[in-house]
Amino acid sequence: MCGIIGITGQSTVTERLVDGLKRLEYRGYDSSGIAVINGTGLKRARAEGKIKALERTLDMTPLDGHIGIAHTRWATHGVPNETNAHPHFYGRVGVVHNGIIENFLELRNSLPGHKFQTETDTEVVAHLIEDSLNRGLSPKDAFEDTLKKLKGAYAFGVIIDGVDDQIFCARAGSPLAIGIGEDEMYLGSDAMALAQLTNKLIYLEEGDWAIISPKDAQIFDREGASVTREETIITGGLAMAEKGNYRHFMLKEIYEQPETVGRTLANYVDEFNLTANLPEGLDFSKFDRIIIIACGTAYYSGVVAKYWFEQLANIAVDVDIASEFRYREPVISENSLFIAVSQSGETADTLAALRYCQSKGVTTAALVNVMTSTMAREADIALPINAGPEIGVASTKAFTSQLTALASIALSAMKSRKNISRDAEIRLANALIKTPRKIKEALELDPQIEQIAFELSKSRSAFYLGRGMQVPIAYEGALKLKEISYIHAEGYAAGELKHGPIALIEDGTPVIVLAPYDNLFEKTISNLQEVASRGARIILITDEIGAKSTGSMASEMIVVPSTDSFVAPIITTIAIQLLAYHTAVHLGTDVDQPRNLAKSVTVE
Ligand code: AGP
Repeated sequence: MCGIIGITGQSTVTERLVDGLKRLEYRGYDSSGIAVINGTGLKRARAEGKIKALERTLDMTPLDGHIGIAHTRWATHGVPNETNAHPHFYGRVGVVHNGIIENFLELRNSLPGHKFQTETDTEVVAHLIEDSLNRGLSPKDAFEDTLKKLKGAYAFGVIIDGVDDQIFCARAGSPLAIGIGEDEMYLGSDAMALAQLTNKLIYLEEGDWAIISPKDAQIFDREGASVTREETIITGGLAMAEKGNYRHFMLKEIYEQPETVGRTLANYVDEFNLTANLPEGLDFSKFDRIIIIACGTAYYSGVVAKYWFEQLANIAVDVDIASEFRYREPVISENSLFIAVSQSGETADTLAALRYCQSKGVTTAALVNVMTSTMAREADIALPINAGPEIGVASTKAFTSQLTALASIALSAMKSRKNISRDAEIRLANALIKTPRKIKEALELDPQIEQIAFELSKSRSAFYLGRGMQVPIAYEGALKLKEISYIHAEGYAAGELKHGPIALIEDGTPVIVLAPYDNLFEKTISNLQEVASRGARIILITDEIGAKSTGSMASEMIVVPSTDSFVAPIITTIAIQLLAYHTAVHLGTDVDQPRNLAKSVTVE
């Protein structure tokens, strides 16, 4: 998941390309680079690490021109150093690439005598184009000839010395948009990258390739036929989020949750009539099964939603991680509803699962935070979560908005399947409507959680335990801790620990137990006692009633606001987010851009 951007026009490009890279940094930040063509030919600057490093390089060795491409990298092939940083050159050709060329080794071997400078899959593309040019093909034919040889996923930007105002681009499996300016044309991985340049975009479709010049964009389909693609006007919502007075984007986004969950509710719940609005196109009387597919944190929201849809709407739900679902040849009935849950709407595995289900004739919905994303555009039904741009790589506000939207949709499913009394509907709608205020109250636990996190930051590993809907929150708590503090952690069903993993419990092992007072509370407390009796240091996350019932069993107790058990997972999430955040801050890790990660995983 890298980010690419390009500009061809009448004025210098470097400063605007670097600004675009900053807006793409959430897609990867292992290294970055820029290439331009100017009076001295094809030139580049590259740097290991974040965009700041590239800016320092450009300060020392300025570089500019009226045509250029730039790239910020999340390494797939080759260590993240300057040598492997894009743009990659060979002869007259410069390339930036997002994706994976799966047959790159075979292609390298098809070019005897070519010397390769890098370990990357991308470099071979520059060699192939240069080789075709040397065989007398025109730049357009050389580019098309090269595309035909590639297997895998790509979004490319290519400039060729001697072709001074054209950028060659293509997409297959990775998103790419053309931006239309005044006597300028742009190329970008997404609308965010181009937001400062234009709001007029043309999203290339699968297999499309194009040649853009300052006044023109020629678009071709996979077969090379000239095609016209729809122009989209992007309206708002792309301002580069600012940290404001917060130390990190992640903390800002944790604190935005009362507002963002409120915005999500506004779209799905009618607070005056205390009911949920059935999203357009979702007729639950048509479906006998729901399939929820996602990755990472988004997957955990689907695991919670399974409880809501099955217990409340009496509709069977299969939840699976996209990278497994897409390859296990799942048995799918046409009366299923497929829901992709994805903050970015670009996650390669989730997108592939959506396309697989579409090929089986299943109704597809995409629950996304980016309504200009590929999933939103390709699904039959696009369901917004309206959480606003989420910059922190560790997902927080998107997760609680995913939960809120799914809970609301489950409520509307109950109603449409006449599986609920009006009193129950009012109770559940009220619980949802009160959630923003309950989140605000939970955020007041911040100082206490910061203290608890200090002890946790000294640990080498941790367990998170829960039962029922708190199991996926235990998974999420463990993921948050791992991905930003680098402490190993495991989320586990509390009832499962004694079937093996309890062997890992030793004196002082931190165990975070998620147990708001509900019908599973006593059982969870029994599991708490099992680990406490073996020396575990218990951090209990419960509510007022639970706190009264457990006395001094826990070393620390985080008492979240009492809520209807329907929305309890959303409230306990606030505690595990703050716990992970403060642990990471105590450890001094890069909270907003943790090592090895990127915000949008657009490669398999
Ligand atoms: C969440 O903290 C992680 N950064 C990651 O698991 C993320 O949720 C996952 O990659 C899915 O991303 P998506 O929601 O954009 O599809």
